[in-house]
Amino acid sequence: MEKLVINGGKRLGGEISVHGSKNAVLPIMAASLLVKGETVLHNVPDLSDVSASIDILEYLGAKVKKENGTLTINAAEIVNNDIPDNLMCEMRSSIIFLGSLLARCRQASMCRPGGCDIGLRPIDLHLEALSALGAMVEERGSCISCIARELRGAKIVLAFPSVGATENTMIAAALAKGKTTIINAAREPEICDLADFLNSCGARISGAGEGVVEIEGVERLHSAQHRIIPDRILAATYMTVAALNSNEMIIRDIIPSHLAPVIPVYMKMGCRLSLSGESLKLVSPKKIRHIRNIKTLPYPGFPTDCQALAAAVLIKARGTSTISEGVFENRFNYAAELNRLGADISVDGRTAIIYGVKRLCGAGLKCTDLRGGAAMVAAALAAEGESTLTQLYHIDRGYEAVEKSLACVGADIKRLNDEKKEC
Ligand code: UD1
Repeated sequence: MEKLVINGGKRLGGEISVHGSKNAVLPIMAASLLVKGETVLHNVPDLSDVSASIDILEYLGAKVKKENGTLTINAAEIVNNDIPDNLMCEMRSSIIFLGSLLARCRQASMCRPGGCDIGLRPIDLHLEALSALGAMVEERGSCISCIARELRGAKIVLAFPSVGATENTMIAAALAKGKTTIINAAREPEICDLADFLNSCGARISGAGEGVVEIEGVERLHSAQHRIIPDRILAATYMTVAALNSNEMIIRDIIPSHLAPVIPVYMKMGCRLSLSGESLKLVSPKKIRHIRNIKTLPYPGFPTDCQALAAAVLIKARGTSTISEGVFENRFNYAAELNRLGADISVDGRTAIIYGVKRLCGAGLKCTDLRGGAAMVAAALAAEGESTLTQLYHIDRGYEAVEKSLACVGADIKRLNDEKKEC
């Protein structure tokens, strides 16, 4: 069993770089199936979710090469249009292969995807949108199969601006006949990155990031190179680590506008932030200020993926803060673990009430999900004494060698392989 051992209470500082975005690269990897040739992606992070996507692409017949952050995918020949259950259950975003397989092969079958346990996570909006484009969708137990003689453009109104449903629809519509309009589309930067990638391959997508996305279907896509945007959630993770544990830190390789929903919240906590080109300097407050209410919402609202991170800062605030979760039903599993460090968080439905405490003390923690795990790392760094974190597979889905990056800014953090078996 692998574990992170953290000796907290040290002052961190220096410069830290942000790698490519997990949530941008995964749908783009799925979309690479539409190109009957080579796709070259740069700034690809080394994450277990990326490896899981590579496994899916290779199973489908693509040739994939990964070297120093560059991923070359050759999807000239695709031999399968199904995805085995063991590959699907690795991560939530494998569902995006439904749209790309449908566009490429006119047929796809797979079981419902895995991913973090943060709520029900239905896929009805994905399936409705693909049906509107002409796919016949059949669900048998947890198996989904889609077939379409041809995909035709349609007007699709999403009941909620789902990131995944918007991506699946954009990908399937890129090779459909005629025009597709997605109304109430998700506006996250990762949607824009997907549109930029598809357009660089010859797709005709406009309006990405604005809520109404129009896709004029084309007959084929061609090979292209694309650089993945920096991971804004990783940037927010480093802001959290810095706010709790440093006097000041410089976070490099960011796109400042992508952090626009996050920056005001950290300023309200008392952090001083200054932007310079693609860098952000965070000067931490002497005493963290509480925030009466933070509510997570779809972009450009405060991101649900930063909810646990904000909580990790507020556990040391002067006063009481509340955070309401507006996107997922159940995203507070991490709270009980933070309380083991001496935090005082109580959860009532979709709201967490965080009573600020002065001291945190090291403890044994289990990562509950990807971002909850990252919040635990940040908080453990601020706790006096030793903390151990297990169930690291959650963190490894979205953070490239977290211990190495944080060690570079002075953290005392090690990954150990304990011989004892997990029970
Ligand atoms: C993506 C991100 C995830 C982020 C989330 C919201 C990736 C790989 N993951 O997840 O990190 O937390 O966006 O910003 O990009 N819903 C339905 N029916 C559907 C689809 C979604 O009811 O068919 C609901 C979900 O249950 C959830 C909400 O819509 O309550 C948002 O989900 P969605 O935006 O689809 O998130 P993901 O694409 O799964």
